[in-house]
Amino acid sequence: MAGRYASPGGREGSGDLSESEIAVHWAEEEYLAPPAELARTANLRDPGLLERFAPSAFPGCFEEYAALLTWRRRWDQVLDAQRPPFYRWFVGGSLNVAENCVDRHLATAAERPAIVFVPEPEGEPDVVLTYGELHRRVQELAAVLRDDFGLVAGDRVTIHLPMVPELPVTMLACARLGLVHSVVFGGFSGEAAGHRSADCASRLFVTTDGYWRGGRVVDHLANLPSSMEAARADGHPPERVLVFRRYPDRSLSAERLDPSRDVEASVALARHAGARVEPRAQPSDAPLFLMYTSGTTGRPKGCQHATGGYLAYVTGTARSILDLHPEDVYWCLADIGWITGHSYIVYAPLALGATTVVYEGVPAQPDPGRPWRVAERLGVTVFQTSPTAIRLLRRLGPERPREHRLRFRVLATVGEPIEPEAWRWYYREVGRGRAAVVDTWWQTETGGILCSTKPALDRMKPGSCGPGAPGIRPAILDEDGQEVPHGSGRAGNLVLLAPWPGLMQTIWGDPDRLVRQYFAKYNRDRSSTDWRDWPYFAGDAALIAADGYVRILGRVDDVINVAGHRLGTKEIESACLTVPEVAEAAAVPVADELKGRLPDVYVALRPGWAGSPQEVEARVVRAIETSIGKIARPHRVWVVPDMPKTRSGKILRRVLAGISNHRDTGDVTTLANPEVVAQIREQVDRDRGP
Ligand code: WT7
Repeated sequence: MAGRYASPGGREGSGDLSESEIAVHWAEEEYLAPPAELARTANLRDPGLLERFAPSAFPGCFEEYAALLTWRRRWDQVLDAQRPPFYRWFVGGSLNVAENCVDRHLATAAERPAIVFVPEPEGEPDVVLTYGELHRRVQELAAVLRDDFGLVAGDRVTIHLPMVPELPVTMLACARLGLVHSVVFGGFSGEAAGHRSADCASRLFVTTDGYWRGGRVVDHLANLPSSMEAARADGHPPERVLVFRRYPDRSLSAERLDPSRDVEASVALARHAGARVEPRAQPSDAPLFLMYTSGTTGRPKGCQHATGGYLAYVTGTARSILDLHPEDVYWCLADIGWITGHSYIVYAPLALGATTVVYEGVPAQPDPGRPWRVAERLGVTVFQTSPTAIRLLRRLGPERPREHRLRFRVLATVGEPIEPEAWRWYYREVGRGRAAVVDTWWQTETGGILCSTKPALDRMKPGSCGPGAPGIRPAILDEDGQEVPHGSGRAGNLVLLAPWPGLMQTIWGDPDRLVRQYFAKYNRDRSSTDWRDWPYFAGDAALIAADGYVRILGRVDDVINVAGHRLGTKEIESACLTVPEVAEAAAVPVADELKGRLPDVYVALRPGWAGSPQEVEARVVRAIETSIGKIARPHRVWVVPDMPKTRSGKILRRVLAGISNHRDTGDVTTLANPEVVAQIREQVDRDRGP
């Protein structure tokens, strides 16, 4: 396992096999030159940029990004780093995010489409919201939030919505008033949404009756009772629930509303038709939103992003890395419920005055030609999706992009490592060799893109995301904190040596966790007030080649990246333990051809269980879907006689992951129960067939 690379996880002895250790180590690939046309048209085509963003220009270089925004009051200080790792950017400045994303475009672009909503059913017409229309809708909803619910700046609102136009409208209405939104991915279970709502004591919960996904209607409102129950159990039920409807004239759910708590959005909005609500200027470091994400411990943590630094950073990177221009029709085929959608479907494209596409459904519905039909019809120029979607579209319809007149200039990929074969298909077949492919590495915590090639300036290298984005300084550190030299061929922990404006401010309600999880590993002196002593530990293993290009191997912690979505093994395991028969559970990553990784779940039962293993398997799957959602559905549930354990009783997940991935388990002779390893291996291999 260690082979050519040092163990990046530093978890030798802890018994875990991380994603990065089952990574496929691709060979170094050939470079491809950036498309010639971009050298003439790109936002960022001047190599002088490298100097402007050189380490010596830190932190002033980021003023270039802040200058893309409209400020009510200009900042006095670029960076306040007095209290690392809690940084404040553009201190003294104030602005409003909705004003930047909507109002400021009205003078020149009121008629330009801001959001094009593409329903999943192909016969249903698009819904186009021009900037003028968006302005009207955001104000009406802001009036409801302020006047009907009495929400005031700083209050939290949990939004459990799928990909419908009401989602960005609600986010912007919150931003207009200084309310802190927390969007929970629509595919998460009601229970998961309820716990997140309670964690930040949301006063309002926003949901809808249903939506289309994979050719079927999903009854989304059916999740509401379990959300409310979970929030109540945690001691913070929301006061009110706002319910949208997918269609004005019928309901997609039989769920009844509670008149003392729930409000029909259409009724409330009608009362505020034509309302004017001025955007409220917010201090640069006021929180804009929370985004819950999984980490090493059981409970998801609320990453808190700031107003000024975040918006400046995502706008700047969308301009330089995605090369977005106001004339672009941009389609990011991700979900707004994840950070990719927040930053690069909603906030950055709208701040730049571009047209952003919001697609309701799954990529290959009703067939794998769908994305290319939409792109041709809407004239999409910049496109972004995940390696999982690329692999799927390639497998189901390798020739389909050729059937269409596609005009892509930049093709972005995000969320997981992309294998060179899939990269090349994206480049050749989707981009026709005329578009730049940018493989963008970043995280929920980082707000925006941190490593990527610059489309007009850098050569592309399939399988590597590229160098640090402007002003970003990635490095690889070994377990002792020594920097691993570029080109050494050794992997280690990916860190960022300097802060940047998109970095989250804190973990909601638990600032100490920010320090522990992201900075403690490489900080030697907690009292140091010099940011150089606080490298950001990303939780990914990576290598940096001699050319400075970063190649990501995967997570080193207890996180499994499923199709670009982050799942905590601890969360999956605690869901399994809600099944009464289950005594012990372990979730491990297993490599999957389409989704990158999937969780494999091992459970050992309490003595005395007399039913069938199939029965337990089904209950475990149901428990995971209830407490997390369908996205966490395991690849397999294995009911095993016992877990492989150390003499001190710790479950050795490394051994289970080795078995799941049909790999060597390493030396198991020192285990408390070495014989179960062979038993489990036999059980798994038998099932896999010859
Ligand atoms: C983790 C972050 C970035 C928004 C979507 C995911 C993995 C992300 C890449 C990439 C290889 C990638 C990392 C990272 N990841 N982008 N281009 N190449 N791996 O956000 O849910 O916070 O997950 O996704 O492992 O740590 P997230």
